Amino acid sequence: MFIESPRYTERFGSVRMNHVQTVVSLDSGAKSDLPPPGAMGVIKIAEETIKDFENKMAIVIPVKDEKLKLFEGVVSGVPHDCLVIVVSNSQREKVDRFRMEGDALKQLCHFTFRQALIAHQKDPAIAEAAMEAGYDSLLGEDGLVRDGKSEGMVIGLLMAKVADKEYVGFVDADNYFPGAVLEYVRNFAAGFSLAQSPYSMVRILWHYKPKISGGLYFRKWGRTSEITNKHLNDLISSKTGFETEVVRTGNAGEHAMSMNLAEILPYASGYAVEPQELVSIFESFGGILPTKEPKVMGQGIDIFQIETRNPHLHEEKGEEHVRNMLLCSLSTIYHSPLSSEEIKQAIVTELVRQQSLKEGEEPPPVHMICSPKKVDSKKLISKLREDLDKYRVLP
Ligand code: GDD
Ligand code: MG
Repeated sequence: MFIESPRYTERFGSVRMNHVQTVVSLDSGAKSDLPPPGAMGVIKIAEETIKDFENKMAIVIPVKDEKLKLFEGVVSGVPHDCLVIVVSNSQREKVDRFRMEGDALKQLCHFTFRQALIAHQKDPAIAEAAMEAGYDSLLGEDGLVRDGKSEGMVIGLLMAKVADKEYVGFVDADNYFPGAVLEYVRNFAAGFSLAQSPYSMVRILWHYKPKISGGLYFRKWGRTSEITNKHLNDLISSKTGFETEVVRTGNAGEHAMSMNLAEILPYASGYAVEPQELVSIFESFGGILPTKEPKVMGQGIDIFQIETRNPHLHEEKGEEHVRNMLLCSLSTIYHSPLSSEEIKQAIVTELVRQQSLKEGEEPPPVHMICSPKKVDSKKLISKLREDLDKYRVLP
């Protein structure tokens, strides 16, 4: 593929945050002589480079009661060499949706000669492994893994670790276009190929997010992301003294990390997860607060934001859902030790305006799931590995 070279990189402490890079063309052909590296600000990412990274990557698909057709489409869009890991929190009573997902996945894998893993978020064996490893922050009062997208993501990344993958990407199960999923993963690979540090992250920005209102309208910005980005940028500006618009992917559900980075980050519960990743990176490696990982600080963190060619179309889950997502997102900034009184006040005003908070209320604290590195991850991994056959869709 052809992709814009990073035009500008903002640096905070040891974080290198690249401005958005647009995919110029989805394919760059087999000829290797065009263009010279960096010519006219465009980079060619060779097909074999993409394949090389796909082979080292697991794609985690968190799913909760999505339409089966959408889920199947998403799986079919994941490049063949990636390991698919489905973490489901779908219902099991009455209609066993988890079973339906497993059957659909099995059929696809059977016909395409690929292996995949599928686990239910409420599997007692996973909760038991987490408990033994001291992973209390992942567990709810009932002793099982808590509800939430991010909780599913953490299980997925642990399984990717069990499968010895070096990269882990996340793709939502309610994407309408399999072709877009294919592109997300190729963009993950392209980003990783440009990283200098073993600690890297790639976040997807879609070209358009169409809405159906009368006709089809190709909207550029979702409401939540626009507001989250603004406040994340304000957080940075308040520390550097220079206004910035570098953050454009605060809520990127589709994103990926090197395993090295994924295992040292804490994760905010539910939908707060994506903005919290950035907030945590700024806190730990932004050079303002003391770091607990001086080694990582030395290597730096590379963050890429890649704008797709494909539009993004997913299920619409209503106004209440959007208000809640915004509340979760801005709470992560509000409760950061980096946040000043001014930043906090602006967040409260915004949340009241968006009817996510009532006058006089404060954003609720964010539940944090500690980083896998903080628990006895060796024990956790070996326990999950013992059960691995149970999670494989094909014998
Ligand atoms: N395993 C698991 N457990 N998966 C879940 C859970 C859960 O408790 N809750 C939701 N999911 C799955 C959904 O089935 C979907 O595949 C994905 O997580 C995203 O959830 P949605 O409910 O569809 O969220 P959204 O579409 O409103 O928001 C998405 O995009 C935002 C950016 O626009 C999410 O990815 C957000 O995290 C993201 O910020
Ligand atoms: Mg969705």
